[in-house]
Parts: sequence; structure tokens; C-alpha cells
Amino acid sequence: MYKGGRIIAGLLLFACLALMPFLINIGKAAAKPSPQVNTPFIQQLTTQTCVEPAAFMKTEHMQLLNQWRDAALRDGKTVYVNSQGQSFPISLENSCLKCHSNPQQFCNTCHTYAAVKPYCWDCHNQGGTSQ
Ligand code: HEC
Ligand code: HEC
Ligand code: HEC
Repeated sequence: MYKGGRIIAGLLLFACLALMPFLINIGKAAAKPSPQVNTPFIQQLTTQTCVEPAAFMKTEHMQLLNQWRDAALRDGKTVYVNSQGQSFPISLENSCLKCHSNPQQFCNTCHTYAAVKPYCWDCHNQGGTSQ
């Protein structure tokens, strides 16, 4: 009987340890941002892709935006040709925010989570949902 109790206690302990990662993740999963990319404009596109592959955009969009700004303001460029040879207007409002017309749910869910506050919005319009 005594031995049986030990086994059950051991099994319970094992179950707790095995569940631990899931239990810890419950809070995180809820807090993690889920940026929505299904805007009406994007839904109409034949290929629902960003100006560059999503994985690149996720980590490099700040640098890309800086390049865009410099290209537009210093070099007077108006068109960006991406790694696939497709062209996009170099514009925050007429490119990024044309597709991502939900900056509040898209850009800002991530930025709030990461505690970054791009100063771009000081001057640039975020569309109807400015903060
Ligand atoms: C102090 C005000 C100000 C801030 C802050 C600012 N911009 Fe701009 N930006 C401008 C002005 C003015 C233009 C020129 C607008 C035009 O040509 O119609 C411009 C143009 C641009 C353009 C090219 C044209 C367009 O319509 O988008 C890009 C891209 C851009 N900015 C990106 C950024 C990014 C990214 C940030 C933040 C990292 C930023 N800007 C912050 C004022 C600002
Ligand atoms: C032609 C429409 C279009 C334009 C223009 C566009 N995007 Fe996107 N973007 C998308 C789509 C669609 C996705 C999702 C792609 C996927 O999942 O493969 C996406 C994905 C992203 C992601 C990754 C999101 C995630 O959850 O990982 C970021 C960040 C992003 N875009 C930022 C930008 C910025 C910044 C600009 C302007 C420089 C921009 N996008 C311009 C359509 C666009
Ligand atoms: C998948 C999450 C995610 C999405 C979606 C996203 N961002 Fe970001 N963004 C980040 C993170 C994280 C940082 C901070 C990165 C760092 O500090 O290295 C950042 C930083 C930036 C910066 C630089 C700010 C600074 O102070 O350095 C700009 C500009 C920016 N994002 C613009 C945008 C715009 C515009 C959109 C929407 C079109 C967008 N981002 C969508 C996650 C995201």
C-alpha cells in the first residue's frame, strides 16, 4: 500500500512537471500579439504577400522603412523594387498602410507588446485610427 502511494505521488509529480511548460505558456500565449493581415485591401490581392517575405519583414521592417525614408527624401526615389522584382511605391501611407489599413491592430499590437513607440506617427498619418 505504502509503495502504491509513492508511485501515485511520483506519477502526479511527473504529470505536473510535464504540464509545466503548458501552464507557464498560458499567460504568454494570451499576451502575445497576433497582428491581423486580413484587411479588405489584402484580401483582394491575388498574391497575399508583403513587399518582402514575411519573415524578413518581421525582423527587418524598421531598417527597410529607414531605407525607404532615405531613398524618398535624400534621393528622390518613388519606386521600390523588391527581391522578386515587383515594384511598390515608396510610401508609408500609400504602400504599407494601404495594405495594412489597420495599423492599430497590426503595427501597434506588436509595438505595444515590444514597448516601442515609432516616432513616425508624430508626422505621418496612421489613417482613420490614429492613436
Ligand atoms: C518630423 C516629421 C516626420 C517624422 C517624425 C517622420 N517623417 Fe517621414 N516624412 C516627413 C515628410 C514631411 C515627408 C515628405 C512627405 C511628402 O513628400 O509628401 C516624409 C516622407 C517619408 C517617406 C516617403 C514618402 C511617404 O509618403 O511616405 C517615408 C517612407 C517616410 N517619410 C518614412 C518615415 C518613417 C519610417 C518615419 C519614422 C521612423 C518617419 N518617416 C518619420 C516627415 C516626417
Ligand atoms: C501589397 C500589400 C502589402 C504592402 C504594400 C505591405 N505589406 Fe506588410 N504584409 C502584407 C501581407 C499580405 C503580409 C502577410 C504575409 C505572409 O504572411 O506571408 C504582410 C506581413 C507584414 C509583416 C509581418 C507580420 C507578422 O506577423 O510577422 C510586417 C512587419 C509588415 N508586413 C510590415 C509592412 C511594412 C512596414 C510595409 C511598408 C514598408 C508593408 N508591410 C507593406 C501585405 C503588404
Ligand atoms: C510582428 C510584429 C510587428 C509588426 C506587425 C510591426 N512591427 Fe514595427 N516593430 C516591431 C518590433 C519588435 C520593433 C522593435 C525592434 C527593435 O527595437 O529592434 C519594431 C520597430 C519599428 C520601428 C522602429 C521604431 C524605433 O523606435 O526604433 C518602426 C519605424 C516600425 N516598427 C514601423 C512599423 C510599421 C509602420 C508597422 C505597420 C505597417 C509595423 N512596424 C508593424 C514589431 C512589429
